[in-house]
Amino acid sequence: MRKLVLAAASIAALILIGPASAQSPVIIKFSHVVASDTPKGKAAEKFKELAEKYTDGKVKVEIYPNSTLYKDKEELEALQLGAVQMLAPSNSKFGPIGIKEFEVFDLPYILPDLATLRKVTDGPLGARLLKLLDSKGMTGLAYWDNGFKEMSANKKLISPVDYKGVKFRIQSSKVLEAQFRALGSIPQVMAFGEVYQALQTGVVDGQENTWSNIYTQKMHEVQKYATVTNHGYIGYVVVVNKKFWDGLPADIRANCEKAMKEATTFGNGQSAKENDDALEAIKKSGKTEIITLTPEQDAAMRKAMEPVYKDVASRVGQPLIDEFLRETGAASH
Ligand code: LMR
Repeated sequence: MRKLVLAAASIAALILIGPASAQSPVIIKFSHVVASDTPKGKAAEKFKELAEKYTDGKVKVEIYPNSTLYKDKEELEALQLGAVQMLAPSNSKFGPIGIKEFEVFDLPYILPDLATLRKVTDGPLGARLLKLLDSKGMTGLAYWDNGFKEMSANKKLISPVDYKGVKFRIQSSKVLEAQFRALGSIPQVMAFGEVYQALQTGVVDGQENTWSNIYTQKMHEVQKYATVTNHGYIGYVVVVNKKFWDGLPADIRANCEKAMKEATTFGNGQSAKENDDALEAIKKSGKTEIITLTPEQDAAMRKAMEPVYKDVASRVGQPLIDEFLRETGAASH
């Protein structure tokens, strides 16, 4: 009898209180590898602010910047396992989980400016690429910008011959590997969070990145020279765990989608300024000499990297490269 009363009491308590999840906010853990004071860091903060506002606090976004939770490869695995719900890895980082198509964004000089990029990401090709993520247990929500990459090293990088034998840290993209091989360099895949130390200790000699990433990771303090090349682009795909996302109540998901749309407009509207400001700050620090190329030197770099298009055609897919170029309105490579 006593047991029966206890059981009835606990059932009543359950009915009154309800399952914990119905009462507590939905937590979105958003892990990323860069500093908060970067294009991605700021867009993530904006998403948090808007998602919490539009859902009246039913959603709580916890941001873990600067690889505090996971490094590059681990964060994608953690997302697939459901240990975190949201990430924004760069296009260059999806190869190791079996999606190499995003590496098309890594092709040298494929994007002259951000307006051209938008034609791809806002068009049918951009939508189709996001769909590829479904098969990996992810949903692609948006494209976020960082910006254009520059080269840095402890030696002056002016013409292609200067790159011979130089060890460069790269993201995990075969296109980037081919790019540095075309220059006669030695590429080495390394997680973003390890780059500063690798440059400082001489494990690698140089790296390629945007001004905002260089500045906020203090790479300029351990690199004597940086060359304005704008030879490639770093942007992000915002991804969520598909099961988590599909399982959200429809109104909450709709409000999060609205927050994501606005955070994307906000972030992409200020990324170029973030990078301009970082370049100014690097110049002001006086720690890195900034090298600007003449049109002839720029042309020589383009020519040296041109073979990459053929080298990676079978990996990325020639039809995909052609379609990308068509959408950007570029002449073929
Ligand atoms: C890198 O690894 O260099 C970048 O993708 C880091 C980032 O997220 O911007």
